[in-house]
Amino acid sequence: MSKQIVVSGIRSTGFLHLGNYFGAIHNYVKMQNDYNCYFFVADYHSLTTHPDPKDLKQHVFRVAAENIASGLDPEKVALYVQSDVPEILELYFLLNTLTYKGELEKVPTFKEKVRSQPENVNAGLLTYPVLMAADILIHRAVKVPVGKDQEQHLEMARNMANRFNNRYGELFPEPYPFNFGSELIKVPSLDGNGKMSKSENINATIYLADDDETIRKKTMKAKSGLSPEQPNSSMTDDIQNLFSLMRLMTDEIIVAQYEAAYADCSIRFGDMKKQLAEDMIRFVAPIRERAADLQKDEVRLQRILKEGAEKARASASETLKATRKLIGINYY
Ligand code: ADP
Ligand code: TRP
Repeated sequence: MSKQIVVSGIRSTGFLHLGNYFGAIHNYVKMQNDYNCYFFVADYHSLTTHPDPKDLKQHVFRVAAENIASGLDPEKVALYVQSDVPEILELYFLLNTLTYKGELEKVPTFKEKVRSQPENVNAGLLTYPVLMAADILIHRAVKVPVGKDQEQHLEMARNMANRFNNRYGELFPEPYPFNFGSELIKVPSLDGNGKMSKSENINATIYLADDDETIRKKTMKAKSGLSPEQPNSSMTDDIQNLFSLMRLMTDEIIVAQYEAAYADCSIRFGDMKKQLAEDMIRFVAPIRERAADLQKDEVRLQRILKEGAEKARASASETLKATRKLIGINYY
């Protein structure tokens, strides 16, 4: 039986962090043996916020290196840069004709950008979910490993697939978000203000490039409040966040000990944060070192990305040919 097709992308907008790892990359690595995987650096998506041209290459190469350092094997998957696959942009235009201004204006991530960068509400931002749908549908993917924040974008991609199929004929399967756990996840920031992120909450996000001391400092500053006074009292959001992080990073038995200590009020949050920091360091340090080595070997990264683009273009051009034919763009 042929393997199911998987697509996912990460924008080259900064340093990767534990949210990217647990929401996305951890799943990529687990899927790479059993699925036909296309993973890419979403450099076009990053242009909607106007990065400095001199930073672009470094950002793209770092995201690729951090993916590989986290366990992604470029021999097993197609690892490529979005802008190396021009077929995506053609499908993007075709899908734009099936998407309505009103529905794009309602997307929460767009509304958030309108609030945060009112001086730059460009059409690329408005049509961001259409480009994302093109990224996915160009390989006719069925599974998309992403964090919880991408759920709505996936719903839009399914709508576009169905609209196309109803109008022109069956071509695209419906893509669904995917996580190996039963639910999509959101890794919280250490200060309890939303999620870990490449560009926001920088002091409360643990990056895969952070050195040991930075991880310790950021973790010890995490809000925890006072120890509980009543046995079995409910947890504040800050404490819940710390436990969520601990469940990702720390041995189950030790987590259970801290949970029990919370329940009987003997917990010391300083000790808990120290434990969490050391576990994060143990996790991040080897990835950071492998990623740094890889970034020094530009020739190797270039070769990997070029080979990835070839694999991706082979699949993309087949889909595009079928798409054009159904639409009626076959004149000769
Ligand atoms: P960021 O939001 O940090 O700029 P991206 O938007 O490029 O990162 O996201 C790349 C992938 O990482 C997506 O699948 C996204 O859902 C996931 N992701 C980002 N932040 C988190 C988080 N804090 N928790 C879980 N998944 C996340
Ligand atoms: N929009 C995604 C994010 O911000 C990144 C992305 C772009 C993506 N194209 C994609 C994710 C296709 C999955 C599939 O995180």
